[in-house]
Amino acid sequence: MRSDAVGEGACLQSALDSTLIYDASMALQLVTGIAGFIGSALARALLAEGHQVRGIDNLATGSMSNLSEIIDQIDFRQADLLDPAAMASACVGVDCVFHEAALPSVPRSVIDPVASNQANVDGTLNLLIAARDAKVRRVVYAASSSAYGDTPTLPKHEGMTPNPISPYAVAKLTGELYMRSFYRVYGLETVCLRYFNVFGPRQAPNSPYSGVLAKFITNMLKGETPTIYGDGEQSRDFTYIDNVVRGNLLASGPLAAGAPAEKVAGEVFNCACGERITLNQTAEMLRGITGYTGPVEYAQDRSGDIKHSLADITRAESAFGYRPVVNFEEGLRRTVEWYREQIAAGRA
Ligand code: UD1
Repeated sequence: MRSDAVGEGACLQSALDSTLIYDASMALQLVTGIAGFIGSALARALLAEGHQVRGIDNLATGSMSNLSEIIDQIDFRQADLLDPAAMASACVGVDCVFHEAALPSVPRSVIDPVASNQANVDGTLNLLIAARDAKVRRVVYAASSSAYGDTPTLPKHEGMTPNPISPYAVAKLTGELYMRSFYRVYGLETVCLRYFNVFGPRQAPNSPYSGVLAKFITNMLKGETPTIYGDGEQSRDFTYIDNVVRGNLLASGPLAAGAPAEKVAGEVFNCACGERITLNQTAEMLRGITGYTGPVEYAQDRSGDIKHSLADITRAESAFGYRPVVNFEEGLRRTVEWYREQIAAGRA
């Protein structure tokens, strides 16, 4: 409810908001990368709000196990962003596209920049063309904090000139530029959410390219030694998955009676917690939560890595009321609990 609404006005506003939520629930939403950890969390949230959900995934990095609870409730299609016919078909009848599909990881892109460009740039362009032709109302894009690169200014705000370092960062930033172009040139409403180091249940822990928290947590729970690249004094604005899901629901428009086109279309917003913590501090915190008492190893820092990352989140708050709903420590506890159950069940 808005802070300026009081008494009868507040009730009326609340009723209006509910109506908008109900109306929007009749629409079909498309999630790309639906078998990934972010896409599948978003799909569950959309279903819980009463929406119809279609999802595509090429299963390159996603897993059907992330969809096991909802597979009967969604229109799932195994398809690649690089397949124009599949994208055209996927966009038919869609209200909003949540574009989560990507080939993640800075080090992966350093080893294979062409694969990163194909999935993250060519794939995004294909999807935008299909969304434009199908007259989709809005596309919400999973942009990345890596666009800021190593500029010393903290916190990072959207008015800063991007300074990408890795091929991954360049590709994700190029996706943003295409989003903005498709709004300016074709009038397709696009919104870019720059995610800051998202973590949470279902993030894959077993690849050399996995996010650091998924690796550290599973290492410690299994009694294996985690490796810190560099001196561990690098810091991140780690963002629990529920915050990113919330940001998407708000940014998508009438789903939550927020984010009118005139405030968000063609624009970029940070999506984060607005707090940062070093890897050394995180490892200490995780020792407390997991009960791990073994050592932590240090290895050479990674090429393309950036030192510090912290978001200014005021722009998303003033445009569509975004605020983090779960803080870092609570997110860490929930994530550890989830991996603990998976390991106990022999699934991780
Ligand atoms: C970057 C982006 C992030 C994006 C992600 C996609 C920034 C600030 N963040 O994440 O928004 O979602 O790419 O992949 O650019 N590390 C270890 N030990 C490990 C693994 C990693 O010490 O076993 C270190 C890394 O060297 C890095 C930090 O942990 O300093 C975080 O790494 P990672 O989780 O891979 O994410 P970023 O590269 O920061």
